[in-house]
Amino acid sequence: MSGLTTTKAPFIENAQQKGERFIHQPYELYSEENHQAWASLYARIQDRWVRYANPKFLEGVAKLNLDPNRVPRISELNQFLSPLTGFKAKPVSGYIPAFIFFDCLRNRDFPTTITVRDLSTLDYLPEPDMFHDVAGHVPMHTDKAFADTLVRFGECAVSAAMVIQQLKDKEVQRERARSIIKAMARFFWFTVEFGLIRDPKAGLRVYGSGLLSSYGEIAHSLESPEVQRYPVQIEWVVNQYFEINHYQPLLFVIDSFDHLFSLVDELERWVKDGKVNNVAPGEPNVSDLDIESFLSAKL
Ligand SMILES: [Fe+2]
Repeated sequence: MSGLTTTKAPFIENAQQKGERFIHQPYELYSEENHQAWASLYARIQDRWVRYANPKFLEGVAKLNLDPNRVPRISELNQFLSPLTGFKAKPVSGYIPAFIFFDCLRNRDFPTTITVRDLSTLDYLPEPDMFHDVAGHVPMHTDKAFADTLVRFGECAVSAAMVIQQLKDKEVQRERARSIIKAMARFFWFTVEFGLIRDPKAGLRVYGSGLLSSYGEIAHSLESPEVQRYPVQIEWVVNQYFEINHYQPLLFVIDSFDHLFSLVDELERWVKDGKVNNVAPGEPNVSDLDIESFLSAKL
């Protein structure tokens, strides 16, 4: 009955219980409601994409031949995506510990949720669903500079794991890991998830997938006088907490995806130079699982 609905899918619960992180997409399990939810989400956001999304995203949507009416098949999506940048969407059963997530990016795999939000709650859900991951993230992965930037995040995580694993004292190691992971997570949040870009022709546009997959927030992010929009500054971003349960009041603007790539380069240098060893406290919470993933990473 519940098909593959977010938080209500027996197939996912089963995979999680068995400890299976990477799964396949059992396409036959999608219910008619799941397809309807996808179609509704897609139909209402289309015009807003044209108005607010950056041109690379719109090109990506066209290149992927995203189906507006039915939940996409990941394997078909990958047939369009892989030849462009080598990226593939990789189905997962839920949360992926931080190092493993970044390491997937390094290998040009994008961990992708396969459940669809409930038709009755299209507007808000705290956890990612397939509309967020596939419609919000994946079209950006068709762009080479953006795809290379994600890979650079993965390389930055490897450098971070090296720095952390070289420390002798176990307590220091954990505290260092907590700070570095917080810095990386904040950087990822304010760019890949909620970033704005100043396009030379189109002006201020959206490229963060949290905005691109939200009918309400995509407009709010560019139209609302309540939102503070600043040129991205790495020293600010890594020390800035965020909350996930409301529209973002503070957003950062990049000049181009090459600019974003160079910022991740810089972030990696900061990690190596110890400049994010004691970032400001606050969100996001870094779980033991995240810390453990960096401590146990095979390098
Ligand atoms: Fe996301």
